[in-house]
Amino acid sequence: MTPPFKKTEENQPILEIYGKSPLSGEVIISGAKNSALVIMAGALLCPQDCHLENVPSLADIEKMIQILESLGLKITRKGQTLEIDAKNITEVSAPYDLVSQMRASFFVIGPLLSRMGVANIPLPGGCAIGARPVDLHVRGLQAMGAEVMIEHGIARAYIKGNNKRLKGTKIYLDYPSVGATETLMMAATLADGETMIENAACEPEVIDLANFCIAMGAKIKGAGTSTIIISGVDSLGSVKYNIIPDRIEAGTFLVAGAITQSELSIYPIIPEHLASVIAKLEAIGSKVVVEDFNRVKILPAPLKATDIETLPFPGFPTDMQAQFMALLTLAEGNCVVTETVFENRMRHVAELQRMGANIRVKGNHAIIQGVPLLSGAPLIATDLRASAALVLAGLAAEGKTTIQCLQHLDRGYDDLEGKLKKLGAKLHRTTGVSETRALF
Ligand code: UD1
Repeated sequence: MTPPFKKTEENQPILEIYGKSPLSGEVIISGAKNSALVIMAGALLCPQDCHLENVPSLADIEKMIQILESLGLKITRKGQTLEIDAKNITEVSAPYDLVSQMRASFFVIGPLLSRMGVANIPLPGGCAIGARPVDLHVRGLQAMGAEVMIEHGIARAYIKGNNKRLKGTKIYLDYPSVGATETLMMAATLADGETMIENAACEPEVIDLANFCIAMGAKIKGAGTSTIIISGVDSLGSVKYNIIPDRIEAGTFLVAGAITQSELSIYPIIPEHLASVIAKLEAIGSKVVVEDFNRVKILPAPLKATDIETLPFPGFPTDMQAQFMALLTLAEGNCVVTETVFENRMRHVAELQRMGANIRVKGNHAIIQGVPLLSGAPLIATDLRASAALVLAGLAAEGKTTIQCLQHLDRGYDDLEGKLKKLGAKLHRTTGVSETRALF
């Protein structure tokens, strides 16, 4: 049943988009959210100065700053730079209200336990896209000799014995979880002996974290492959590190070019990080040109339907599924989008249907029949990447689209509206009263 329309309460931010404006120009991509978050957690390993560059301005980064500050770290932010002073960790229990708001904050368990011998971290719980358990993190830490008990929703971990060091061991992950690979890799940097993580995640953010740890003096080999070997060291030292560009932000702007039939130049990027996204755009008919070693251009071209299945890296990223679904609603022909990574990542479908998209969902498959036109509608953002998909659909739709629940968008896109406006998009955020939908 379609929820009724109503006037929203004042002060709730709403994004208004007037579609069908052609875009053009260059987009500057910010630092990678998922790298920055885990590298900030990794700063817990560093008893000397830690200087991070290219840190994006995002609500999630602000939350991670608050979590680290609650553990006693001193953090100074200047523009895209973070100075983190983790010399004195004064607290080993992270606050529930902050951890429950952001799953990545659970990743502090590995470095905190390794450095302090004890860590009490509330379970992050489920979120909009699925249950998201942490069993692989916990089992890996236990294999390294930690006692980990789950009590009243808190993971209480400590290292037995006098020397308070985890022990290197062989860990096979049942699934190449990004977060579990990162947690265990960080924990292993200060462990006694060698740790081998098999069936490790190969995502670029795992490599970035490994490079950050190596810059502090850690001994890590094989990051970016399915076997990572970490030889524990006694301590780590000061570090200056530059976060990689955000491949998901870059991919989102590539789709913005494709869906609006515009020519966009996107910079800086690391082309290998976007290989599956570029391959799918080409299969859909878009013309994508990789220029130099760190720039990609997308050119206008007719769109045709193509099947997509999300997979761990180097497969097609789940974090680009919603944006590509928006694109495929306007492609000629039928296709199937299959989500294999998270169990509940199709909530944008109902919103796209509201704009006139022809999509049926069966389990984890979305069956899409392309339509010639989307029309603007009042929409509700349900999670971070779904919000981006709705913005993209709004840019291509005829008429006005309004999007509410922008807190999801603000978690993970650094000045999306500003960057789109520079390209010629007609959109603005309002806090006034606008026609929108009741939230159920
Ligand atoms: C990270 C990214 C997220 C991305 C995801 C997959 C961050 C902050 N977030 O999330 O943007 O969508 O990788 O590329 O880096 N699982 C378990 N047990 C565990 C851990 C995971 O069953 O202990 C399952 C999850 O429920 C999910 C799958 O493994 O179904 C993948 O999750 P994972 O790779 O761990 O994602 P995150 O690290 O949480």
